[in-house]
Amino acid sequence: MTPDPAPTLRQLLTFYLEAGVDCALTEEPVNRLSDPELAPVAQQVDAPKSQRALPAAMPASAAAPASRGEVAPPPEAAIAAAREAARTAPSLEALRALLESFDGCALKFTATRMVFGDGNPQARVMFVGEAPGREEDIEGLPFVGRSGKLLDRMIAAIGLDRSSAYISNVIAWRPPGNRTPTPQETQICLPFIQRHIELVNPDVLVTLGNPSTQTLLSTREGIMKTRGRWFDYDTGTRVIKAIATFHPAYLLRSPSYKRMSWQDLRAIAKALEQAPS
Ligand code: URA
Repeated sequence: MTPDPAPTLRQLLTFYLEAGVDCALTEEPVNRLSDPELAPVAQQVDAPKSQRALPAAMPASAAAPASRGEVAPPPEAAIAAAREAARTAPSLEALRALLESFDGCALKFTATRMVFGDGNPQARVMFVGEAPGREEDIEGLPFVGRSGKLLDRMIAAIGLDRSSAYISNVIAWRPPGNRTPTPQETQICLPFIQRHIELVNPDVLVTLGNPSTQTLLSTREGIMKTRGRWFDYDTGTRVIKAIATFHPAYLLRSPSYKRMSWQDLRAIAKALEQAPS
């Protein structure tokens, strides 16, 4: 039998992209098969499944995201440090600088850039998504990819744009391969977005999609139940009106929900008309 020719670089890259690998985590390649702690397992792959032993414990290097020589502190310490740092930020600029120098979230070390916020910090309405995606990670701005273009069209439908609205995310760094942020990563980033909301101090807060809604509005209900409902969001200094709606990425996948999202947008526009400016 003639052996298959070695794959070309293009074929390999296509293979990785289809498998969901779309970013490099370190500058240098790492041969995990030569890792002494994993080697016994790697060498067993030819053995029948029933005879393969499991590693005693997964080494931390395999469980944790690869970092560029940086190590994030334990989660409890990171959450405490995040609370302390966020609490002391007197302005958005100070909060951005504190977040930039915060090493408590491992996502920082795999992301290209931090994504803080975009739009008018004096806006009366603030939209909060989950976490940056690939385009946001490259540009350093929230919602600039396909779902961002839809968000722009959604807010334009009620007469807003990025000069009259403010946009951010619960998480400031892109999770590798756009994976879902872990509960720990969310808890570590939470004090920063809470302070972010307090400093922007909008009249209306809009949570986009389930993760942002559940995290910020402290509910366990799903977006089908929460969307279009008004919540009180206590910033610590003021109670503001908050409403959940579908994430634009979800609407791209399920366009039939755009009708409900339009109802939510109209409710937001009405609340802005009613609230004193
Ligand atoms: N999805 C989000 O939740 N946030 C972004 O900034 C982009 C996509």
